[in-house]
Amino acid sequence: PRPILLTRHGESMDNVRGRIGGDTALSDAGQIYGKKLSNFVEKRLKSERAASIWTSTLQRTILTASPIAGFPKIQWRALDEINAGVCDGMTYEEIKKNMPDEYEARKKDKLRYRYPRGESYLDVIQRLEPVIIELERQRAPVVVISHQAVLRALYAYFADRPLKEIPHIEIPLHTIIEIQMGVTGVHEKRYKLMD
Ligand code: F6P
Repeated sequence: PRPILLTRHGESMDNVRGRIGGDTALSDAGQIYGKKLSNFVEKRLKSERAASIWTSTLQRTILTASPIAGFPKIQWRALDEINAGVCDGMTYEEIKKNMPDEYEARKKDKLRYRYPRGESYLDVIQRLEPVIIELERQRAPVVVISHQAVLRALYAYFADRPLKEIPHIEIPLHTIIEIQMGVTGVHEKRYKLMD
């Protein structure tokens, strides 16, 4: 069985400020995570010559991957975070205060709610299809460094979780979710590398 390692990027400056979307760099803690992840991956995939590292096109995933040496890195736009459209760069508090109808609509149906000029979870799930096809096709391990909403959708696919749960699955920062696809089914392990 070959592993698929799923992880969010290290903490970003926007994570620190509570702002959604954006394209900021990593906080000090986020940079430390990049180094810990790199140690983990280099050890875990030592003899896996064909393994690869997939990131989104956003800085925070590319910077998280940057300490990892010895494996090819591939950037996928389809791994970019959910596009929050007009709400990009706002905090949840600001959305609640300035756009209460949008806030309520999302709360009511987070799966189907589409940000004005942005995406819904259903949109994200759809754009991930080529990534999933390629992940299934690969025989070697893959490390996927992406974002909260995207990883909820990817994880749900492999863990066989129902559609309606997807927007609520917990994908914590600084934690690796290892998925093993064997003949007996899917096995999962979590490695929390930092608090
Ligand atoms: O806050 C981090 C983040 O990745 C945002 O960029 C994104 O909008 C959000 O999480 C997605 O989570 P939720 O769907 O719960 O708002």
